[in-house]
Amino acid sequence: MSPVTLSRYLIEQTRSNNTPADLRFLIEVVARACKAIAHQVQKGALGGVLGSMGTENVQGEVQKKLDVLSNEILLEANEWGGHLAGMASEEMDNAYQIPGKYPKGAYLLVFDPLDGSSNIDVNVSVGTIFSVLRCPDQYLSQNDALNEQAFLQPGTQQVAAGYAIYGPQTMLVLTLGNGVIGFTLDRELGSFVLTHEDIQVPQTTAEFAINMSNQRHWEEPVKRYVDELLTGQDGPLGKNYNMRWIASMVADVHRILTRGGIFMYPRDAREPSKPGKLRLMYEANPMSFLIEQAGGASTDGRQRILDIQPEGLHQRVAVFLGSKEEVERVTGYHQ
Ligand code: AHG
Ligand code: MN
Ligand code: MN
Repeated sequence: MSPVTLSRYLIEQTRSNNTPADLRFLIEVVARACKAIAHQVQKGALGGVLGSMGTENVQGEVQKKLDVLSNEILLEANEWGGHLAGMASEEMDNAYQIPGKYPKGAYLLVFDPLDGSSNIDVNVSVGTIFSVLRCPDQYLSQNDALNEQAFLQPGTQQVAAGYAIYGPQTMLVLTLGNGVIGFTLDRELGSFVLTHEDIQVPQTTAEFAINMSNQRHWEEPVKRYVDELLTGQDGPLGKNYNMRWIASMVADVHRILTRGGIFMYPRDAREPSKPGKLRLMYEANPMSFLIEQAGGASTDGRQRILDIQPEGLHQRVAVFLGSKEEVERVTGYHQ
């Protein structure tokens, strides 16, 4: 049988699940941009793309050259096609307007252009995370500037989400709200080819991911849970756990979608005003949508992440996601 490319998959989705043609186009454009980013990432030192820009983003983080380049690639690819009303990104303080010379479309695209910045220069997997929302009607009819308010929709409103991971293989993992599928970039064909159908997160696991160096700053429920994981067979959980922490959310979530596990970035006492490190709109929401669509669970310790009403584009949130049994356990400890 000939390989099922992303294009063919999306066309078949239009036939069987009424995926709108403009959403199909949007996903194809994002995938094309991710191929371009993969190409840049892969060049590394040969392309002069490693290292820092010497600038900071809105969260006060140092921007890498590849953060900025990836952001530009996504903007340029997506602004002219008429499928978007606006974009927002980790690397831009405010919402991005579609330039007046191009038609506006029905969707909003939110992204983390390059996730795992700290790993770029050391040749460890990084990725692009994206989330697609519908633009509320009131902003479509207005001719004036699209504002941040249009984007502030809970994760349950996402119509699609996914990530590209730039690792030993470049992959695109996607949900349109009916399960999760994975494509692998065939560099000879230049196409993403369907390689992972109906991805499922195992309900149980013996693997956890957390940055242990922050232990002293955690809240009590997280301390208790991780203590129990560490006591292994002799503790209340009655089994030994293994730990993995890549420090690229994309890579940690990809592992969990592949073989299960729990990923945690809890809120901690380092910056009490911020509920955790990860960002709701372009990290936690798309990943939570994928994880739930694959049969896993995702909470901020207190509630389902997808139910949170966002209050800002760059809002942070605590994240507990992955195998259901473990996410429910640590969430229970918070109650
Ligand atoms: P980004 O590179 O987009 O800023 O995101 C990095 C995030 C996430 O990918 C990862 O899970 C986490 O930061 C790692 O945090 P620590 O450096 O605290 O381990
Ligand atoms: Mn990130
Ligand atoms: Mn990033």
